[in-house]
Amino acid sequence: MMCVINKCVFPVAGYGTRFLPVTKAIPKEMLPVLTKPLIQYGVEEALGAGIYNMIMVTNAYKQAIANHFKPHLDIERNVKNTNKAILLDEVNAISKECDFSYIQQQQMLGLGHAIYTAKPLIDKESFAVILPDDLCINTGDSVLLQMTKLYKQHPDCCIVAVEEVPSSEVDKYGVIDGELLANSSNAYRVHNMIEKPKLSQAPSNLAIIGRYVLTHEIFATLAHTQADKNAEIQITDALMSLAESGKVIAYKFQGRRFDCGSVKGFVEANGVFAKAQFKSTN
Ligand code: G1P
Repeated sequence: MMCVINKCVFPVAGYGTRFLPVTKAIPKEMLPVLTKPLIQYGVEEALGAGIYNMIMVTNAYKQAIANHFKPHLDIERNVKNTNKAILLDEVNAISKECDFSYIQQQQMLGLGHAIYTAKPLIDKESFAVILPDDLCINTGDSVLLQMTKLYKQHPDCCIVAVEEVPSSEVDKYGVIDGELLANSSNAYRVHNMIEKPKLSQAPSNLAIIGRYVLTHEIFATLAHTQADKNAEIQITDALMSLAESGKVIAYKFQGRRFDCGSVKGFVEANGVFAKAQFKSTN
């Protein structure tokens, strides 16, 4: 069984309405934590997990994302031989190293639908998914690298990242119930998972955050997944049907995650990054 992950899907077609008015003209994935846009943190995390093929599931208004990962010759000429040239080095290195594909999600029909949209660009292989709203940092292996390592031990399983959240917040997430794998303190065989449950129905306080390793089997499952009451196809529902045959593992990752899909989490991320940056440069 092939257990190397070569592709990462970034579902980035959403309108980011929580961040209006800035998201009228700027994709929310281009909002910066300090000077780097969220999408670049996500791409760097994928690259750090040995993935070189980035698949953006996008829409017609989000050209800025593609532009960000293309060389900008005018700006490069402008900063050449100045101390600012270095500021472009990271993103230029990414542009050289990685292959970017863009596919349009024509209708906003949920995360499951967004992931299914990437199907033509995925061979019979497992792949990663990063939701760039969830910005993750860790001093050791990145969250995705932790997950791809776990996947190698369980190549017929999908892996979802989870963290404990306060009970008052379970209704914002996919929530899982599972049983620790033998000899593990952080990986659970998932028995149940519910998308955005009411507190009274939540199976635990282990919430899914935006990192997934999915086997190719997810596409056949997604094709048969019913839309929910909001007419959205949820990846959580598709995963639940794989969980019924023991094929989903939830992984409590090491690291810190910022919910940059909310203004509060986004501002918090900027605060924490700023503190680290200015401490190290002063
Ligand atoms: C999505 C998923 C949800 C998950 C969350 C993580 O929800 O549907 O299961 O917990 O991402 O950020 P969204 O935040 O897109 O509504």
